[in-house]
Amino acid sequence: MYSKNVPSGFPKNFLWGGATAANQVEGAWNIDGKGISTAEVVKRATNRKDFTLNEVTKQSLEEALEDTSTTTYPKRRGIDFYHHYEEDIKLFSEMGFKAYRLSIAWTRIFPNGDENEPNEKGLLFYDRVFETCKKYGIEPVVTISHYEMPLGLTLKSNGWESRETIDEFTKFTKVLFERYKGQVKYWLTFNEINAAVWGFNGTGALDEGLPVTQKMQLRYQALHHQFIASALAVLQCHEIDPEARIGSMLARMQTYPKTPAPGDVRAAQLQDQLNLFFTDVQVRGEYPRYMNRYFRDNGIELEFATSDEETLKQGKVDFLSFSYYMSTVTSDDEDITKATGNFALGEANPYLKSSEWGWQIDPIGLRITLNELWDRYQIPLFVVENGLGAVDELTADKKIHDDYRIDYLRKHIVEMKESIKDGVELMGYTTWGPIDLVSASTSEMSKRYGFIYVDQDDDGNGSLEKIRKDSFYWFKDVIASNGEKL
Ligand code: BG6
Repeated sequence: MYSKNVPSGFPKNFLWGGATAANQVEGAWNIDGKGISTAEVVKRATNRKDFTLNEVTKQSLEEALEDTSTTTYPKRRGIDFYHHYEEDIKLFSEMGFKAYRLSIAWTRIFPNGDENEPNEKGLLFYDRVFETCKKYGIEPVVTISHYEMPLGLTLKSNGWESRETIDEFTKFTKVLFERYKGQVKYWLTFNEINAAVWGFNGTGALDEGLPVTQKMQLRYQALHHQFIASALAVLQCHEIDPEARIGSMLARMQTYPKTPAPGDVRAAQLQDQLNLFFTDVQVRGEYPRYMNRYFRDNGIELEFATSDEETLKQGKVDFLSFSYYMSTVTSDDEDITKATGNFALGEANPYLKSSEWGWQIDPIGLRITLNELWDRYQIPLFVVENGLGAVDELTADKKIHDDYRIDYLRKHIVEMKESIKDGVELMGYTTWGPIDLVSASTSEMSKRYGFIYVDQDDDGNGSLEKIRKDSFYWFKDVIASNGEKL
């Protein structure tokens, strides 16, 4: 549609805020009836660039079940949000948050995953969290499954490998939609649904020792079960609470060709399709054709139940949310220099600087991605994770001068604003880890994303005192000016 009106900035009701996940903040892993989750058997990395979240084997699982340490397994400890949520949300409100994205620990509600009745104490905890948000005028944005599930379901039926897990999940989501109707307006089904193809962290399924083809077969089948579970949750949500909106969540990785050579451009196109496959299914309601060839070439054969195609078609999401930390480069050349990132690895881009963890910083890539996603889907977009993991230094007078974080966020906000002028419909922006938390990939504490410093080290020592960083005051101004004062 032609119009002379080009937006000048962020819309009036833009959802500014921050995002966390239960397994990275809550702690209190074994109280009030909570069961053990798949995240709580993941060991802390010994090397900063080693990801441990998919490294769970039968043997490591047995060891974890014998060991009650929260130092070896830091996601059991988090930052004890379970006991400090009031103080933490109050700090968010001080920054003027309009939204707080959090996730629900499935194991608080169904400790083993297969009980008939939910655990009331777990439900009460989230009642209190949502009431606190309400008190401060903060809209909760709730991820139903963020990198965890009851370990009971892994032990019983290898997590999402089993189709039965769909039923356990829909039992869980029904409880959530009924209980929190009217309290939660925005839901996300699976955090970074593409994580399923990277292994245990996404699937809750052990697949050690399998040949690559069988491993990928298992993961894509597990993913298919998640697609169905997600679509069923969309249908449930719409029926139980017609006012609520429910979205998908993707780890978005914009891919560039290494050179203008057509072979490289094609390699980048394929890489991009393999990243957008997930949202193609969840937004358009069907598997895209390019995946048929990919599955055939990789020896993957999916099992579909007769109703699955219809379920996917009916259960299309209302909006698309995604995390954005970096972009990646690819070519059809085998001999490449790898860069690191949140899971997907690509080539290093000589035009970009990297974080201390090797994640390539690319604010313009966010504008490119926003335009691409909007052009492809034409449904509202929501940036639900973005941020800089860095080592912060506490000065003698207890200050943190994190101008590097401000610089990172500022540049990304500038590009979001440009994309809004380009015509993109953007609902909100929740930065990752507004308060320091346990890292997903390495379980370190020293990889900090927050506006709020938490006094806790990698071993779990510290008073948990909260200190406002320089970025705290900066982000407060950004929100108060609706993105004009950057
Ligand atoms: C995303 C996850 O991939 O990246 C978060 O959804 C995670 O859970 C975030 O924390 C940052 O990754 P990391 O490994 O630095 O914590």
